[in-house]
Amino acid sequence: MAQAEKIIAKYPEGWQASAVLPLLDLAQRQNANFLSQAAMDYVAEMLKMPPIRVYEVATFYTMYNFKPMGKHHVQVCTNLPCWLRGSDDIVKTCKELIGVGMGQTSEDGMFTLTEAECLGACVNAPMVQIGDDYFEDLDAESTLAVLSELKAGKTPKSGSQIGRHTCEPVSGLTSLYNQTDLRKAKVGGE
Ligand code: FES
Repeated sequence: MAQAEKIIAKYPEGWQASAVLPLLDLAQRQNANFLSQAAMDYVAEMLKMPPIRVYEVATFYTMYNFKPMGKHHVQVCTNLPCWLRGSDDIVKTCKELIGVGMGQTSEDGMFTLTEAECLGACVNAPMVQIGDDYFEDLDAESTLAVLSELKAGKTPKSGSQIGRHTCEPVSGLTSLYNQTDLRKAKVGGE
């Protein structure tokens, strides 16, 4: 409740409904990673919104779930750039290790596996989102390593799995090599 009140206080008087997205997110995190109707109704009551307006918002976004999820929600991107870079192998590895198909949750409640459209990290494709974290530059082996660590209760390192710095070219920088170049770029490339 304290967190919810803090979120609502960010919006001007009369515009409390603007807090609907973060409140739904908070409700989901407190409820096995899914939004029950009771949770949505509670948010509607807090924000003095008709429940139908909250349902409309919640069902528009793919980040909200409507059935109980596993502890780790594994979303494999299979959109074009990830597919061209081998997402079929990632899907196969996930299915094998987790032991379920797309849209299903493992019996131990540890993982839910879903297929995602582009998650905006194409430059480091193929990638998966697990919970709030992105795991990028994957292949079957590194996917297996990430999932195995999660299964063992550990926290695998997120981001590029091949040591790439952010989304820089994998073969190293092609421009702005050093501070002098950066300074030059700032003054218009003189
Ligand atoms: S296609 Fe996979 S992140 Fe864009």
